[in-house]
Amino acid sequence: MNRTVIIKEKIFSFNKKITVQGDKSLSIRWALIASQALGVSRAYNLLDSEDVKNTLKILKKLGVKVKNKKNYHEIIGTGLNSFYYKNNTVIDAGNSGTLARLILGILAKSENSFTLKGDKSLSKRDFSRVIKPLNFFGVKLNSKNNRLPIQMRGNKFLKPIYYEEHKGSAQVKSCIMFAALNTPGITRIKCIPSRDHTERFFKYINIPIKKLKKGKFDIIEIKGQKQFKSFNYRIPGDISSGAFFIVLTLLSKNSKILIKNVNINKSRTGIIDILNKMNAKIKFKNKRIYQSEEVADIYVKSCNKLKPINCPKSLNSRSIDEFLLIFLVCAKAKGMSYFKNIEELRHKECDRLKFASKFLKMIGIKSIETKNSLKIYGNPNLSLNGNYEIKNFEKDHRVCMLSFIAALTLGGKWKINDTDSINTSFPKFIDIIKKVGGKIN
Ligand code: S3P
Repeated sequence: MNRTVIIKEKIFSFNKKITVQGDKSLSIRWALIASQALGVSRAYNLLDSEDVKNTLKILKKLGVKVKNKKNYHEIIGTGLNSFYYKNNTVIDAGNSGTLARLILGILAKSENSFTLKGDKSLSKRDFSRVIKPLNFFGVKLNSKNNRLPIQMRGNKFLKPIYYEEHKGSAQVKSCIMFAALNTPGITRIKCIPSRDHTERFFKYINIPIKKLKKGKFDIIEIKGQKQFKSFNYRIPGDISSGAFFIVLTLLSKNSKILIKNVNINKSRTGIIDILNKMNAKIKFKNKRIYQSEEVADIYVKSCNKLKPINCPKSLNSRSIDEFLLIFLVCAKAKGMSYFKNIEELRHKECDRLKFASKFLKMIGIKSIETKNSLKIYGNPNLSLNGNYEIKNFEKDHRVCMLSFIAALTLGGKWKINDTDSINTSFPKFIDIIKKVGGKIN
């Protein structure tokens, strides 16, 4: 069912304490890594979203035992590369680029052939970024134009590689790191920094990994073929989900919110740095280190004196999933904001750079889009009263949730289609919007 939602009222001022669901990147990684461990691993607060359900479904299809208990999930790992499935098995990553790219790395040594497919949006995305390094490892993949479906058979005799990654993509880096797990010798990656959850997981479970800085690059070395023991893990809240409530609060009148137990890993908090540079005064409270990740409560207050930003490109990878929200904030800032080298936004669940320009035009904000940049001419007095429709042809979950936040803070009557896409990453989104006071039909 593809539910359409109507929003025709701005949200009233609020003062709330909320939690958001478990982090998607950590949930997918926990499941994939636990499947390679020796013994029973448990995860508490695993995200219950379509991308994570598809991860568990694929693992089951590959012969891994997965149990869904009342308060936790359990995966019974039987060690590195111990998948058990028939030749020509079909696995389906649904909408998830992370799952699709990481699973190819995990299966690098698995000798039975399989076909990886995905939904309409995922089937338009480029896989050359992982096909190329996997080829260097000695893995053969067949596809049309580097798109899904991809047919692959792992290689029993993987060779370690040295690879330079220039996109700042954690999916590419992690795909290589997962392939390295099954490869004898040392695999080296020189990469633009990106979210570092895989590195932290590897350290946490004692997989031999070294990481150092060289100029603007990270150098990562992994010694492969070391079995590791099962482990338990509690997934903290997802800052990419929290971000919708951060911006909702910032753009609402006289409001406050405390978002409890959120992962504030530095590689994910670009949005906080950007919004604080814009005068937001967002604070982390009760900071603590938890299972090699940093967690805190995020405190946000309304702000009606937003400044524009000339965004340093070093913040791009740290805010990669939050740009649509950041652009919305820029629409309400006084002056011109500028974002450069953001071409990666064209390769997400939809072309988010193109969507952003169309969206800004629809709400009456001037913007200039180039191949890899965006200028936004904000208007602090922006307030809407017309009719607005979000078609969301690619069913992009973040496009959908952004539209809720715009509708609840800018006014006007909004028709938002395909809200089922939200289940990709944040199934409780609408419940929490209602809890905070949003009126939705
Ligand atoms: C993710 C990495 C990012 C991000 C995606 C999740 C991950 O993609 O956009 O939502 O969990 O590794 P890229 O690595 O392609 O930038």
